[in-house]
Amino acid sequence: MKKTWFITGTSTGLGRLLTEKLLARGDTVAATLRKHGSLDDLKAQYGDRLWIGLLDVTDTKQVHEVVNAAFADLGRIDVLVNNAGYGLFGAAEELSDTQIERQIATNLTGSIQLVRAALPYFRAQQGGRIVQISSEGGQTAYPGFSLYHATKWSIEGFIESIAQEVAAFGIDCLIMEPGPTETNFAVGLDLAQPLACYEDTSVGEVRRVFTSGDFSSGTFTIKSDLARTVDAMIAAADAEQPPLRLALGSSAYTSISQVLTERLRVLEQQKSLTLSADR
Ligand SMILES: NC(=O)c1ccc[n+]([C@@H]2O[C@H](COP(=O)([O-])OP(=O)(O)OC[C@H]3O[C@@H](n4cnc5c(N)ncnc54)[C@H](OP(=O)(O)O)[C@@H]3O)[C@@H](O)[C@H]2O)c1
Repeated sequence: MKKTWFITGTSTGLGRLLTEKLLARGDTVAATLRKHGSLDDLKAQYGDRLWIGLLDVTDTKQVHEVVNAAFADLGRIDVLVNNAGYGLFGAAEELSDTQIERQIATNLTGSIQLVRAALPYFRAQQGGRIVQISSEGGQTAYPGFSLYHATKWSIEGFIESIAQEVAAFGIDCLIMEPGPTETNFAVGLDLAQPLACYEDTSVGEVRRVFTSGDFSSGTFTIKSDLARTVDAMIAAADAEQPPLRLALGSSAYTSISQVLTERLRVLEQQKSLTLSADR
């Protein structure tokens, strides 16, 4: 059955390829982006099946206007994909207040407000699916990415909570957790002004990887194939009963598996002290 999708951040990377693949298979896409022109080639090819809206997800008023306009023009939207996002790198004390506010406004508040804008329509049409692009960094944490992790862990908590709130209305949620994948992510990384004292720490080590642009070895090795990642995302989003979370790629699988195993081990190890707090 043909579906209609609403996707944020479609100028490049995962959002752009997802839009391309859905249009190619015959679906309709409301693609939103910040810059005019990035989807002109697809518009010329697919005409009315591609609805384009200009949207900076940090602008809550615009979020509501664009969501309202998309539902008004397209009638029903089956799937909302919260994809827009970027990485912020730097030790917590290296980051500026503005960098922190922009990271939270984009990766966290933007997704929350999109969900809030879409929910009344999903309830009225008695169904809908929310696909949240998180990251393997939504369950793991690396030095230098504290604010990125803060947004991805937070949005996973938000989605896990609202999934329970809206299930009664036929609305479900799916959190996607890609590992390192070749998109514009590394190019678009917002870098803090370094403090010399961090150069010989784990932050300095990770900084050197990201400033060198060499992801051929180590923790941030790019193992995922972009097209296969998007195919897996579509397969999961098409499933009748999707999982709440889907890790994408062997890097995501391995790192999430390791941290969950360790978290459970520590929980069990502390069990008697934990239970001693009961009244
Ligand atoms: N690539 C990876 O390794 C990886 C791994 C895990 C998770 N992810 C997640 O995947 C999602 C997509 O990223 P990507 O890897 O495809 O990177 P990308 O190629 O840089 O794409 C990011 C998209 O988000 C858009 N965007 C950024 N800030 C925005 C804002 N304020 N309002 C609207 N759009 C905004 C960008 O638009 P502009 O062109 O206007 O900047 C771009 O379209 C992100 O949520 C990211 O955290 C990526």
